[in-house]
Amino acid sequence: MQADFWHDMWESGVVGFHQTEINGFLQQYWQRLGLHGDETVLVPLCGKSLDMLWLSGQGHKVLGVELSQKALDEFLDENKLTSAPLVHAHFCGYQLAAMALLCGDFFHLSAADCEVVKAVYDRAALVALPPEMRKQYAAHLQTILPAGTKMLLVNLEYDQSLLNGPPFSVPESEIRQLFANCSRIEVVFEQSLQRKGVAAQEKVLLIEF
Ligand SMILES: C[S@@+](CC[C@H](N)C(=O)[O-])C[C@H]1O[C@@H](n2cnc3c(N)ncnc32)[C@H](O)[C@@H]1O
Repeated sequence: MQADFWHDMWESGVVGFHQTEINGFLQQYWQRLGLHGDETVLVPLCGKSLDMLWLSGQGHKVLGVELSQKALDEFLDENKLTSAPLVHAHFCGYQLAAMALLCGDFFHLSAADCEVVKAVYDRAALVALPPEMRKQYAAHLQTILPAGTKMLLVNLEYDQSLLNGPPFSVPESEIRQLFANCSRIEVVFEQSLQRKGVAAQEKVLLIEF
């Protein structure tokens, strides 16, 4: 998925992946990470997700990373948030009281940027990427995150020959390969659903780096 694909989507104003409610899995399973509540949470490929507001409401500091400036502008406007410009060598973006929103390529995020990150929330990030980019995404996370970081991952599986992505189908076996070096991979919830008439499975996983 090249950058233009996402920029065009944000320009078109049709962002079907965006949820107007806080994600239910996040609210239900976040406590399974066993955090205190004030830790910094990385939200890769964050879009204008309201889930960042929920995490912030729990007391977390949020580090969102998003390619589209328009997405971040809409996030601030629609939620009436005030911010200051953020100064960074590789990103532009916005600094809020308890939130940093980096605008640029996730693959430019460094270990130094993630020094204080204790958790990751991935909803519609891994599944937004085609197979080769998923490998790069998982490898990059494992390069930049401190050991012990915990991630809540919301995943989707279906027969990829019946539907095109994104969201792509990511089999659990692939997740286990991508994160094979992590100390823990646990499925905490799964349910069956229909996606455009195709049988699918949604899974919530807890991964510890
Ligand atoms: C499917 S959307 C999910 C957004 C958000 N996680 C949510 O739940 O609404 C994927 C997002 O990733 C962004 N994106 C894609 N590639 C990216 C990259 N390399 N770096 C940063 N953001 C990226 C897109 O602009 C898009 O907003």
